[in-house]
Amino acid sequence: MAENITSRYAMDLEEKHGAHNYHPLPVVIAKGKGAKVWDAEGKAYYDFLSAYSAVNQGHCHPKIIATMKEQAETLTLTSRAFFNNVLGVFEKYITEYFGYDKVLPMNSGVEADETALKLARKWGYLKKGIPENEAKIVVANDNFHGRTITIISMSTDPDSYKGYGPYTPGFINVRYNNIDELSKVLEEEPNIAAFLVEPIQGEAGVFVPNDGYLKKAYELCKKHNVLFMADEVQTGLARTGKLLAVDHEGIRPDVLILGKALSGGTMPISAVLADDDVMLTIKPGEHGSTFGGSPMAARVAMTSLEVIKEEKLADRSAYLGEIFREELKKIDSDMVHIIRGKGLMNAMVIKPKDGNTAWDVCIEMSKQGVVAKPTHGDIIRFMPPLVITEEELRDAIERIKKAILSFQ
Ligand SMILES: Cc1ncc(COP(=O)(O)O)c(C=O)c1O
Repeated sequence: MAENITSRYAMDLEEKHGAHNYHPLPVVIAKGKGAKVWDAEGKAYYDFLSAYSAVNQGHCHPKIIATMKEQAETLTLTSRAFFNNVLGVFEKYITEYFGYDKVLPMNSGVEADETALKLARKWGYLKKGIPENEAKIVVANDNFHGRTITIISMSTDPDSYKGYGPYTPGFINVRYNNIDELSKVLEEEPNIAAFLVEPIQGEAGVFVPNDGYLKKAYELCKKHNVLFMADEVQTGLARTGKLLAVDHEGIRPDVLILGKALSGGTMPISAVLADDDVMLTIKPGEHGSTFGGSPMAARVAMTSLEVIKEEKLADRSAYLGEIFREELKKIDSDMVHIIRGKGLMNAMVIKPKDGNTAWDVCIEMSKQGVVAKPTHGDIIRFMPPLVITEEELRDAIERIKKAILSFQ
């Protein structure tokens, strides 16, 4: 039984029998509740990654788990070959929640991004009149949209794309947060169907673009009849202090891509939202997924969205995020280079000291009872569940400070 497995044994098993496609922090989590997790030996930690922002509602949220259990005992999967009595209710709920005509449910974030790309191309041919097979999609450098061959074809990170060619054509990369470059490309290339962008680049290290960048990008897209597609898989669902990160700039993407916290971290659920003009370009039989839109996923997603509103998680995230950045900026250490973020999506750039890197800081933090993970070498991302209390957050901050100051 898993309950009797020690941390050492669990890590040995993964090393021996699992593919080596991750490099996890050496902490074996056996239990989670709210903002906390416990390892196999019972040591408690604050979770400062939230499974890359999938557990915004907190670990094992009682209301989400109750929905799961209830639906699991009633009906789990029908496939889309038949109707089920939950999907339509969910579709009505989520489209009203975000203000779109239609939703297309999928499972993982990357599938939702792939869906958005297909929608963009189809719309480009049917509505914009782009000649067949000529559609281009503009993406940002340092993007992260997942791991499929097509998605890594637009990556500028060699760890993502190197060794996996040949790549899918049809992408144009521009620098993130550079409106002139986007403007130039849109002027010069007539066959652009869409601009796909993360409102804050998460995996790249929580890069927050300048105020106004997204709004200007959106306006340029309108001017050139190009779809503005926001990948809110990581930034969405209250993480940045608003329901969506694009809400900070008051824009409404033509295509909205959601995943992760759409299930409160319980199962893979993603969704693409758009209006009829775009969504109805995909016809029956042209796209889909066995599990996407299952009764389980539909019920769980509705409850996960309900929890975000009921518990005012966006406001909590905005309020606690201010405290977090303010307190972290007070740390008197030459290892702390930059603190940046929005809401409870934050990062610290570490200046290595005496050979100690962000990885060593994360190891020390785990000893102090906080788990977080470095990204791109010297950046530590801090994304606790949004249900974390102010008291818990302040306790975690003290632990983070103690860990960093131990290198002085
Ligand atoms: C912005 C963004 N898009 C897409 C994905 C891919 O999601 P998934 O891992 O569920 O495929 C991620 C994952 O981190 C992400 O951060």
